[in-house]
Amino acid sequence: MNQLHNLQSLKAFNTFNIECTAEQFLSFDQLETLQNICADTALKSRISLILGGGSNILFTKPKIAGLTLHNCLKGIEKVAEDEESIYIKAFAGEVWHDFVEHCIHQNWAGIENLALIPGCIGASPMQNIGAYGVEIKDVFFELEALHIATNEIHRFKLNDCQFGYRESVFKRRYKGEYIILSVTYRLLKNAAIKTSYGAIQQELDSMQVGAVGIREVADAVIRIRRSKLPNPKELGNAGSFFKNPSIPIQQAEDLLKTYPSMPQYPSTEANAKKVAAGWLIEQCGLKGHREAHCGVHHLQALVLVNYGEARGEEVFQLSQLIIDSVFNKFGILLEREVNIL
Ligand code: EPU
Repeated sequence: MNQLHNLQSLKAFNTFNIECTAEQFLSFDQLETLQNICADTALKSRISLILGGGSNILFTKPKIAGLTLHNCLKGIEKVAEDEESIYIKAFAGEVWHDFVEHCIHQNWAGIENLALIPGCIGASPMQNIGAYGVEIKDVFFELEALHIATNEIHRFKLNDCQFGYRESVFKRRYKGEYIILSVTYRLLKNAAIKTSYGAIQQELDSMQVGAVGIREVADAVIRIRRSKLPNPKELGNAGSFFKNPSIPIQQAEDLLKTYPSMPQYPSTEANAKKVAAGWLIEQCGLKGHREAHCGVHHLQALVLVNYGEARGEEVFQLSQLIIDSVFNKFGILLEREVNIL
C-alpha cells in the first residue's frame, strides 16, 4: 500500500477477471500519498487510470502504459443530521454493498434498492449507479474530488454533477481530470419504501414477510440479483455490458406492431422510449451464446461473461457481434456501458 510497483497484474483488480499489466501501479489509502503524487509534475503526468472496484471496465490491451492508481481510501462518518435526514460521508475505496449493509443496519433509508451492486463508493457518482427504481442521484448530497492538475480538493453539489442515466460530468467534461475522494449521501430516518419496480413486489410476496422495511426490500433485491446475475467472484463479468437504449417514439410504436411483447419504458430523453437491451439480445437468439472463452449469460442477456481465460479483445468482439445483430434485426444501436480500455 502507498508504494509504487512496476509491472503489476491487474487480473485481480477487474471483475471481468481479464489479464492485463499495469506499467506502474500504486494502491493508496492515504490522501497524503495521492497529494504527493499530484505535487510531482513528472509523476502525475504519467497517471493513466484510476481504479476502484474494477467492476465496470474491460481491458482489451495486454498493457496499461503509465501509472495506474488504485483508490483504497477508507472510512464512513456521519457528518450531519436534521429531523428527517442523516448525512453520511463514505470514502471512495469503501465497498458499495458493505456501505449499503452498514446503512440498513443503522436503519438509514434510501439505498436499499441498490444492494449487491458490485464496486466501490467512488464509482457510484461516476456513472450514477442505479437499479430497481433508484439511482444514486436520488440520495446524493455532495462529493469531494482531487483536481489532478492543481492538486486542489473541489466540492461538487448535485447540480454540478450533471447526472443522467449511467452518466455524470466525470465521464464527460471532466473525464480523467479528477479523482473522487469521498461521497456524502443524504439518507432518510423514515423510509419511503420503493417497490414499484415489479420484480421487487413479486419477490416480497413470495418471501411472505410481514411488515416490509428497508431490510426486506434489500433482501428482495439481493434475491432477484442472485437469481439472474452471475457473481463476479465465480464468473468474471461487469454487470450490464450495454445501456438500455432510448429510441424515437415513432420507432418504438412501429416495433410494438411487430413485437407486441417488447418491453418499453418512459425515457428521460424527449419524444423517446427506453427499451430493454437484454430483451433485444435475447430476441436475436444470443442469450446463452458462447464463443471460445466468453459468452452471453444464460439468465440475463445484458451480461457478458468470461469463462476463465478470455482475452479482453475476445469479449469486445463478442460485444460487436451483439451490436451488429441487434442493429440488423431492430435498427437499434446499442451503446456499451462498460468502459473499454
Ligand atoms: N429481459 C429479457 N431477456 C434478458 C434480460 C432481460 O427479456 O435476457 C427483459 C426482462 O424480462 C424485462 C426487461 O428485459 O422485461 C428488463 O430486464 P431487467 O429488469 O432484468 O433489467 P435490465 O434492464 O436488463 C437494468 C440495469 C441493471 C439493473 C436492473 C434492475 C441497465 C443497463 N441495467 O437491467 O443494472 O440491475 O435494470 O433495475 O440499465 C448494471 O448497470 O450493471 C446493472 C446490472
